[in-house]
Amino acid sequence: MATSESAPFFEHTWSVYDLISEQNYMFHRELYAKVAQLLKQRKDCNKYRLLDLGCGNARFLAPSLVLSPPAQYQGVDLSGNALREAQTYLAELSCPVELTHRDLLETLETSVRRWDVIFTGFALHHLSRDQKARLFGAAGQCLSDNGWLLMVDVVREENQSREEYLQEYLRDMRGRWTGIPPEQLELACEHVAANDYPEQLPALQEMAKASGLNNSCVIGKFGHHHAVLFSRGVAP
Ligand SMILES: C[S@@+](CC[C@H](N)C(=O)[O-])C[C@H]1O[C@@H](n2cnc3c(N)ncnc32)[C@H](O)[C@@H]1O
Repeated sequence: MATSESAPFFEHTWSVYDLISEQNYMFHRELYAKVAQLLKQRKDCNKYRLLDLGCGNARFLAPSLVLSPPAQYQGVDLSGNALREAQTYLAELSCPVELTHRDLLETLETSVRRWDVIFTGFALHHLSRDQKARLFGAAGQCLSDNGWLLMVDVVREENQSREEYLQEYLRDMRGRWTGIPPEQLELACEHVAANDYPEQLPALQEMAKASGLNNSCVIGKFGHHHAVLFSRGVAP
């Protein structure tokens, strides 16, 4: 399981993921509405710098950024197809937009910039536990004092094994994701079974604490799909 192993799926079948998110099977609409509400509460509108790790085409984050404009946006992804679409979805932003075709962990670990918000949407669960811990560690290093690590992702229930999680998640996909053509749904199921390594929330909180992000708050939860804010102090 390497950071880049999930990337070919998104490169070759980006349109399948886009259809899944458009049909809202992973609760993108609800989760990103929570993200938008949260970003609105920042007091440094037009001044904060946001790094988006595994940005994909950024179609769900872009509207929040239009409402709460950052001073700088950098999106990182290994899928060239997704990044090409991101240019269009982010076109309304008036701040500098940088799209980087590179591994997200490598980018974060070598970043010399200070970030006010590090966002990651449905990408963290592709990393191994060690890689996730490295991501939290690097985020702790490059976040400003009032910085936020804002994560939208799948999370296992407490005491649920990866096997139990996969069984439940794949059953949900096959039962509820009825708008995805069967062949594409099977591709997506294969991708999930091979590449998804979601953690339990306490494990993520431990990693965050180890990097100085002592405070965490679940701002949205829809089944396994979560939005969680990690910060040094108590955030709004
Ligand atoms: C499920 S999509 C999420 C896209 C978007 N952030 C969202 O919330 O809808 C995961 C994205 O992470 C990217 N990705 C996965 N592993 C990566 C890595 N190691 N480095 C950079 N991007 C990665 C994939 O290419 C894909 O675009």
